[in-house]
Amino acid sequence: MMKYRKGLADRPAYDVTERPWKIKVNANECNMNLPPLVEERVMGRLSRVAFNRYPNEEYDALAEQIARNFSLGKENVLLGSGSSEIIEKLFYCFGGSKDSKIVYPRPSFSMYGIYASAAEAEGVPVDLEDDYTLDAELFVKTVRESKANLAVICNPNNPTGTGIPRQAVEYIAENIDCAFLVDEAYIEFYGQSAAGLLKKYPHLIIARTFSKAYALASCRVGYMLAGEGIVSMVGRAYMPYHMNVLSLATADIVYQMRHEYIPRIQMMVAERKRMAEKLKKLDGFTVYPSETNFLLVKYARAKELNESLVRQGIGIRSFGDAPGLENCLRISMGLREENDIWLNAIRMFTEGRD
Ligand SMILES: Cc1ncc(COP(=O)(O)O)c(C=O)c1O
Repeated sequence: MMKYRKGLADRPAYDVTERPWKIKVNANECNMNLPPLVEERVMGRLSRVAFNRYPNEEYDALAEQIARNFSLGKENVLLGSGSSEIIEKLFYCFGGSKDSKIVYPRPSFSMYGIYASAAEAEGVPVDLEDDYTLDAELFVKTVRESKANLAVICNPNNPTGTGIPRQAVEYIAENIDCAFLVDEAYIEFYGQSAAGLLKKYPHLIIARTFSKAYALASCRVGYMLAGEGIVSMVGRAYMPYHMNVLSLATADIVYQMRHEYIPRIQMMVAERKRMAEKLKKLDGFTVYPSETNFLLVKYARAKELNESLVRQGIGIRSFGDAPGLENCLRISMGLREENDIWLNAIRMFTEGRD
């Protein structure tokens, strides 16, 4: 008899299986590979990797480089296998019993609820308003009343795209005293980072990723910025040498050359604006304001529309009956020509011509 740990069988499996999509706009990835200049430098760097050694220097080099950019020290940076690992470990560190409450908005990144139960903590969702904005006062009240160990916001929020203005983030930081994680996976498309508040609020933690704006989802690299005490405690939850040298060396070059990404980020934002305008003109579509590289839309026949797109090899994200996301679809921005194709497929569907 297999004696698995309690609760494991109830944990949903995150389905990452993919079809061979003709157009893949379902995971908020960047639809372009590395900029050619960056790729060339990465390839040169990888040819000099010491495959026989555990990754020490490479970890430090990247952590130092990130720290410098934020006028912080290396002791304020923790790297992870994607920001997923950072978030999962934070939930673990602030979880541990049913009395450990972790507060997060709903709808938001679906993994928060899963990580909370995996950490044996109790997840406490705070429902967003009908327009998906966060009521910061309600959030603060919930954090205080639940005596939470950890409060989490996602800014801008996945899957709604909504940005939370810096003043609202600061209002939350000012009014709660538990650990406060701001998940900034899409911040490069928004700009209003809370990183500048780190020195003022010692309970503030920021998680970032290389997977989205930096087109490095394959390498699984993310990082956390926080006070030295938090980094040192949370660091205990990781296994030794948890990052591999190939990802570290690649991310190091990408970060050195991050200015190369500015035109692409601007292009993705421009595409998002262009597509939002076009979608708004379609009959029956609600398009939510987005500060990210994706758009969330509501449409009464979302399920059938998604099925039609799947038949045509176009992969977007459908949320089924997830709370607060009924009839919603999320579409990441692809290349301009890809965007024109999925838009045309949607238009044909709405006109009964699919
Ligand atoms: C809000 C948010 N946080 C974190 C992640 C995890 O990203 P990664 O583990 O690739 O860094 C994602 C990925 O989709 C996300 O949407």
